[in-house]
Amino acid sequence: MAITIKSAREIELMSEAGRILEIVHNELAKALHPGMSTKDIDRLGEDVIRSYGCIPSFLNYDGYPASICVSVNDEVVHGIPDKHRIIKEGDIVSLDAGVIYKGYHSDAARTYGIGRISPQAEKLIEVTKQCFFEGIKYARAGCHLHEISNAINDYIDTFGYGVVQDLVGHGIGTKLHEDPQIPNFHQRRRGVKLMPGMTLAVEPMINAGTWQVSWLDDDWTVVTDDGSLSAHYENTILITEGEPEILTLSASA
Ligand code: MF3
Ligand code: CO
Repeated sequence: MAITIKSAREIELMSEAGRILEIVHNELAKALHPGMSTKDIDRLGEDVIRSYGCIPSFLNYDGYPASICVSVNDEVVHGIPDKHRIIKEGDIVSLDAGVIYKGYHSDAARTYGIGRISPQAEKLIEVTKQCFFEGIKYARAGCHLHEISNAINDYIDTFGYGVVQDLVGHGIGTKLHEDPQIPNFHQRRRGVKLMPGMTLAVEPMINAGTWQVSWLDDDWTVVTDDGSLSAHYENTILITEGEPEILTLSASA
């Protein structure tokens, strides 16, 4: 499948999908507290998404049973919300969400500490977020896709963390996952040339220890092989001639 270039009208709809998703994330961030279940988080997220007339894109995607992926501590991504799974002070929690607005998708993830967390956990969360910003320095027309991947991996190498290789970022538009794939690790080839109107979900997944991961028996939850903490940070962006527009994060944030 070819990479889609969005029209002005499509970009408007994706921007709105992005604005709404940012609100969803802000509402979830405000609500997070020790003692709530990961299912509580999912329920709130789904309510907020639907209150804006959007559809939660993850729900029933390939059989995924919830609207928000909630991944705690050594869970990397795609944790399944569960009413018996209670988050507690000291945990780190990754929330991944996607919405569909008038047929157009946005996708974004954040990782939060619950109450007081260890300095090591704090640093992992900060560095993972910074990976995204290091990567998108090359997210502009004329750059090659893999400059994003290489920038993320180069940055991470200075910390000795593990970059997850089994999952990647992706194009996004009328579908949640479009071409191209966007790895967060070193690439030998240059990848496609970026053009204005491409919309991409850039999503570094970084482990405090080994890069290696496995799937739990639920066939969704991805965990680190060494039990180390993992963080995830993702935004949907628009390629322009200049700086990329981050559709799921307002300029002020
Ligand atoms: N942000 C993730 C991704 O881009 C979320 C997908 S979860 C799923 O792949 F449930 F929808 F699969
Ligand atoms: Co994504």
